[in-house]
Amino acid sequence: MNYESLLSQKVQGIPPSGIRKFFDIVSEMKDAISLGVGEPDFVTPWHIRNEAIYSLEKGRTYYTSNSGLLELRREIALYMERRINVSYDPANEVIVTVGGSEAIDLCIRALVNPGDEVLVPEPSFVCYKPCAIMAGAKAVPLVTKNENKFKLTKEELLAAITPKTKLLVLPYPNNPTGGIMTKEDLEDIASVLRDKDIFVLSDEIYGELTYGREHISIASLPGMRERTVLVNGFSKSYAMTGWRLGWAAAPKEVMQQMVKIHQYAIMCAPTASQYAAIEAVKNGDEDIARMREQYNYRRKVIVDGFNKMGLSCFEPEGAFYVFPSIQSTGLTSDEFAEKLLRSQKIAVVPGTAFGDSGEGFIRCSYAYSIANINEALERIDRFVNGKGAE
Ligand SMILES: Cc1ncc(COP(=O)(O)O)c(C=O)c1O
Repeated sequence: MNYESLLSQKVQGIPPSGIRKFFDIVSEMKDAISLGVGEPDFVTPWHIRNEAIYSLEKGRTYYTSNSGLLELRREIALYMERRINVSYDPANEVIVTVGGSEAIDLCIRALVNPGDEVLVPEPSFVCYKPCAIMAGAKAVPLVTKNENKFKLTKEELLAAITPKTKLLVLPYPNNPTGGIMTKEDLEDIASVLRDKDIFVLSDEIYGELTYGREHISIASLPGMRERTVLVNGFSKSYAMTGWRLGWAAAPKEVMQQMVKIHQYAIMCAPTASQYAAIEAVKNGDEDIARMREQYNYRRKVIVDGFNKMGLSCFEPEGAFYVFPSIQSTGLTSDEFAEKLLRSQKIAVVPGTAFGDSGEGFIRCSYAYSIANINEALERIDRFVNGKGAE
């Protein structure tokens, strides 16, 4: 059987995610410490888990409406009004998805036609480009820079727009850099887009995890709600990665198309997870605040640790990652990650997993215990400063 000729060329052309590259090696390695995976080390708060258990006890084991339980969509709409000051109609403008991941895919597939261009600031999360390519579009990278705190600037955006531009991905707070966009930064971007037929995919999954500054949504700026698809989810802020639950909010004309794709590909998000999510979004603010405080403490420890060992580290203002430069070691990101794992049993992600412009950087998550972070810093220091290097 000639699989190569049988399989989709588009799919074969897409590499697997670089985040998971070392995952299997680490799980087999004794005493290995991973700073690799972007998920909270906290267990989902008990009152949220309890609601899912209760829903099962009550026998709520059926499909929900395609768009998700209306009660959950109502709570999500109230949450968005309360936290980012944007109003959405829960009946027609909100969909509950299988993680933010599905929401991103729905948004791109609902908007692009073959040949359209999707602007993707990089370094950024791994799925935007493959989703754009699978939808037949062209992903155009916009390289953000360390010296600009990895923000997207108006000039970079203007230089990338062509008559084929359909969608701008706005991935802030950013994975992997931890960069954020302030209201002024967003206003600059909005001023470019207001008179153009370009949509924004605003991935706000780390919107609750900012340090010292409130997250602002571009949808809250004048004239932007109508051209924005907002993506969010429960994975990061409520420590609910395994529940696979997220959402999107968009003007109803766009949402109607997104719902159709979801209807045929997914049917509905998991029912027990939806009941848990109602509790999370209604009564989870204190949990978020508690976890955020922990992340903030770890953030300071890890930034300090990298800078002290001579790896210059931009101070992230959001998410739970640091993105130190490893250029001073003379190694590529891939070599650094590989050698660090082999010699010190520490897993990090090469910056190139997040786009070519990630070369010269590594991503470390600080959603790990402070004991692990301290031990990892010690071993990385040993590696960088001679003793561990080959
Ligand atoms: C920026 C960003 N968006 C979306 C996701 C998807 O998360 P989930 O599908 O678990 O909601 C992630 C996960 O790492 C992410 O980092």
